[in-house]
Amino acid sequence: MRVAVLGGTGFVGRYIVDELLRQGHSVNVLIRPGSGHKAPESDNCALIAGDLDDAAALEQLVADSDAVIYSVGILREFPDQGISFQALHYDGVVRVALAAEQAGTKRFLLMSANGVKPNGTAYQRTKYAAEEHIRKLGLNWTVFRPSVIFGDPRGGMEFASHLKQEIIDSPLPAPLFYPGLIPWRSGKFTLSPVHVQDVATAVVGVLDRDDASQRIFHLCGPSTLTWKDIIYILSEACGKSKLMFPAPALGLGIAASVMERFDWFPLTKDQLTMLMEGNSCDGREIFDLLGIKPVVFEVENLGYLKNPQ
Ligand SMILES: NC(=O)c1ccc[n+]([C@@H]2O[C@H](COP(=O)([O-])OP(=O)(O)OC[C@H]3O[C@@H](n4cnc5c(N)ncnc54)[C@H](OP(=O)(O)O)[C@@H]3O)[C@@H](O)[C@H]2O)c1
Repeated sequence: MRVAVLGGTGFVGRYIVDELLRQGHSVNVLIRPGSGHKAPESDNCALIAGDLDDAAALEQLVADSDAVIYSVGILREFPDQGISFQALHYDGVVRVALAAEQAGTKRFLLMSANGVKPNGTAYQRTKYAAEEHIRKLGLNWTVFRPSVIFGDPRGGMEFASHLKQEIIDSPLPAPLFYPGLIPWRSGKFTLSPVHVQDVATAVVGVLDRDDASQRIFHLCGPSTLTWKDIIYILSEACGKSKLMFPAPALGLGIAASVMERFDWFPLTKDQLTMLMEGNSCDGREIFDLLGIKPVVFEVENLGYLKNPQ
């Protein structure tokens, strides 16, 4: 197959491109200005320069392709720089889906997120709206809703390396966030970290599967862990013993809503809201369908934290 990939320079997208190439597919990857250094190198990979609002580049990207994979996404927006959830999670999908329809490309795979909903945060609403949009078109679509994704970020940052930098390596005790005023539920919200290679294997695995068409799959790891479990596992993986303390999410939320406009501030108010909602789900449907044994979020699979590339 020839597969057009958007987001192929990102953490997940690079694993997807590698898996596509490993399975003998040809790949077209959109490379936006300034990201050339992240472009995959392979004779089976065509690099198309351009951005999401460049109709000619999108036309070239999807031309002759059998499938499109949309793995673009952001965690925080900077509207004064034109970087918004609306632009990247929704408008981009609408444009690419139109280009795909015009080129006669039927298969469309969308990387969404666990917890998306019509009345959630802007991140969740825009991803949900993109799902709704492609479901209305005459495409053979598959939507993936991953929980947090871990795995060697190969020089970049992902869920675990980000927490290592912000919490484990900090001289301060690790915060066990709690809702409301009483700390009896501190650090109790749950997540199901899923390994990036399992995500890539699942995405590439459904490309030619009719039984995966017109379906939404949750991508979650085999264990559901509390925030406290995750801090503990990360501390162990980094060879550290970490003190923890109950921290009211309310206070941090207020600070984040003021400070999130600065990109050095580590968290936005919406990110905190989504974290406290929990991010766990059951990923067995897709893993069983494709015969994947998912990687567990445990110390032996986090070696990359000690020796980052
Ligand atoms: N990682 C997770 O834990 C996680 C969890 C749930 C869902 N997801 C979803 O999975 C997808 C992939 O995530 P990821 O972790 O691979 O993200 P990532 O590493 O940040 O990569 C995001 C991709 O989007 C592109 N992008 C970012 N800003 C852009 C902009 N202003 N204009 C055009 N393209 C832009 C990036 O291009 P450049 O390389 O040019 O910057 C990159 O290719 C996203 O849809 C994300 O929402 C991820």
